[in-house]
Amino acid sequence: MNRREFTQLLTVGAGSLGLTPPDEQVLAADAPGGQPVDAAGTPAADGETSSLPPVTIEDYRRIAQTKLPRPTYEYIAHGSADEYTLRANIDDLQQIKVLPPLLRGVAEPDLSTTVLGRKIAMPILLAPVGGVRMFHADGALAAARAAHAAGTVLGVSSSAFHPVEEIAAAAPGPKWFQLYLPKDRSVAQRLVERVERAGFEAIILTVDQGEWKDCDRRNNFCVPRDMLIPHLRDIGFEQINDHLTDAEITAFNVQAWNLTMTWEVFAWLRSVTKLPLLIKGVLRPEDARKAVELGIDGIVVSNHGGRRLDGMPSSIRMLPELVDAVNGRAEVYMDSGIRRGTDVLKALALGARAVLIGRAYAWGLAADGENGVRGVLELLRQETALAMSSCGCATIGDVQRDLLMET
Ligand code: FNR
Repeated sequence: MNRREFTQLLTVGAGSLGLTPPDEQVLAADAPGGQPVDAAGTPAADGETSSLPPVTIEDYRRIAQTKLPRPTYEYIAHGSADEYTLRANIDDLQQIKVLPPLLRGVAEPDLSTTVLGRKIAMPILLAPVGGVRMFHADGALAAARAAHAAGTVLGVSSSAFHPVEEIAAAAPGPKWFQLYLPKDRSVAQRLVERVERAGFEAIILTVDQGEWKDCDRRNNFCVPRDMLIPHLRDIGFEQINDHLTDAEITAFNVQAWNLTMTWEVFAWLRSVTKLPLLIKGVLRPEDARKAVELGIDGIVVSNHGGRRLDGMPSSIRMLPELVDAVNGRAEVYMDSGIRRGTDVLKALALGARAVLIGRAYAWGLAADGENGVRGVLELLRQETALAMSSCGCATIGDVQRDLLMET
């Protein structure tokens, strides 16, 4: 967005929020897989919404719902068990009130910042999301191009279903690899070495377990065989071959990953890679302190979008305590529940260096591939810029806790 468009954004608003849709794109919602619903869940009349351009993340969600088979849509949208944590992520962000100081005169804020010493255009990163190739054929390749265009970091899941070399070749730009740890450390080591050689700039270790989604069990949701077999082989499990039955592959997959890690894993990772290490899934202050003691470079405050143990608190609620516990000795990131630029502002004001988005970008990808992810990133960038200028913040450093009302 140039200066003129940005000014337009502010003035068109004068009372009403006049966000221009990114790239003026119009996405057809004509594919099978579901009926459009609005935010309240009311189905739209046929054709009522299908030609309207997406101007919110919720719009992208609605379009994605029409494009995806229902089990795939539900795999993305839902959380574990009764979804208390999923709802808390959204509710707790909405509960926080912003008190913008008036007349500070910022026209076009600078959203650039640094993460792990690398300059990026905005503090909104793409979270590692598994299965992206099932949401759109280009999957992580499309996400890599969109992240690069937006000047931000792509988090790549161990389960992206594209080889890391292909993702690296899809676009330049910083990428972090999220590792699920194979039990066989030699397989894990070879994978980490490939990631490093491919030019990834950090490893995020996701350490906690407990995904238990009713919809996936009800839908018997599973990765198609023709995606899972090459994926497992690509990870380095050489024993996987085309002749194995579905049951054998499932049984192998269940036992192949280390689900009982301890803190020792970081010493091992340090011994096999020079890349910065992040730990994702931190909610307890003492875990954050332990991570700092072990020299971990960054923590991601996360309940993985309510997809792990239900009943955990929202990430935003725990963020201030964790920022205090870390006390500047590592970088602190936060995800879970980010849907608006004001959510980004709130997380930064509470001490996050940047946020990661999961579902928001998955919706964009499902809606329109690379273009959809670009649209989502641009939309959140515009909203964050608007929130910053409304609060008189010229730079990310100006976004401080005193912008928020004490509760
Ligand atoms: C995820 N997430 C995730 N996290 C991770 O560490 N490895 C993974 O493979 C996945 N896979 C995954 C798939 C899907 C469909 C979603 C929606 C999410 C969690 C993700 O990284 C992030 O923590 C959450 O998505 C953040 O919450 P929001 O933004 O979705 O509310």
